[in-house]
Amino acid sequence: MNLKLNRPVAFVPTMGSLHAGHKSLIEIAKELENEVVVSIFVNPLQFENPEDFTNYPKSISSDTQLAETSGATFVWVPTFEEIYPNNPEIISAGEIGKLFEGVHRFGHFDGVLTVVKRLFDLVQPKFAVFGEKDFQQLFLIKEMVARLDLPVTIISAPTIRETSGLAMSSRNSRLSNSELANASEIYSALGAATSGKSISQARELLLQKAQKISELILDYAEVIDEDTFDIATESTVKPRAIIAGWINGVRLIDNMAMTNPESAK
Ligand code: PAF
Repeated sequence: MNLKLNRPVAFVPTMGSLHAGHKSLIEIAKELENEVVVSIFVNPLQFENPEDFTNYPKSISSDTQLAETSGATFVWVPTFEEIYPNNPEIISAGEIGKLFEGVHRFGHFDGVLTVVKRLFDLVQPKFAVFGEKDFQQLFLIKEMVARLDLPVTIISAPTIRETSGLAMSSRNSRLSNSELANASEIYSALGAATSGKSISQARELLLQKAQKISELILDYAEVIDEDTFDIATESTVKPRAIIAGWINGVRLIDNMAMTNPESAK
């Protein structure tokens, strides 16, 4: 199926289990265009772990309701065959796709870019909105759009947080109250990084805090250059603290923009 809507579309691709974070993406899309398409498709290609794919929360009817009340004019729930009718053209996320999330989730970003490209081909949006929470994903999607010269403008939307600071995520519903409290310490660790007097101190504070979070199996805690995804140096203009790990089998990922302490002097 080719949606081919004849009016300009703002698009919010999702994997469902929508929450306030998605609501804000849809509201941002609505400010851009009156026609807002929300897709709900749990993309098997981006799950390196079959159990995570099977356990991914599904709630189509409440999702449709939330999407519509937030401003969606069309909620699209494609089938696997619609997205991947024959051998899908796999889009490589390149070297940056193998860093950080890519180390721990092998092939994940190739799966993300492959589905996003397919969704763009089918929806042909003028704008597509993605959250900053998945910062490496956002970076790689922007990079793919530039590389393939796709006629879509990528809009980044700020991370929406619980009052505890925990970044909203569909996977949070699998955490108990005490696990949620521990998970919210990730936000404090990111905050600690922003108080560093240099990039190296920021990195140290981030790591120290992150390593002390109860139950968290830490995959990485780093300060990167948000324009290149290189490890930040003392002269990086736009540093960003990034962190990811697991609590009780639930993947947690977050990031925070920083001001380089040197440039703030
Ligand atoms: O961020 C997500 O929910 C997914 O990675 C996306 C962009 C919808 C692709 O499946």
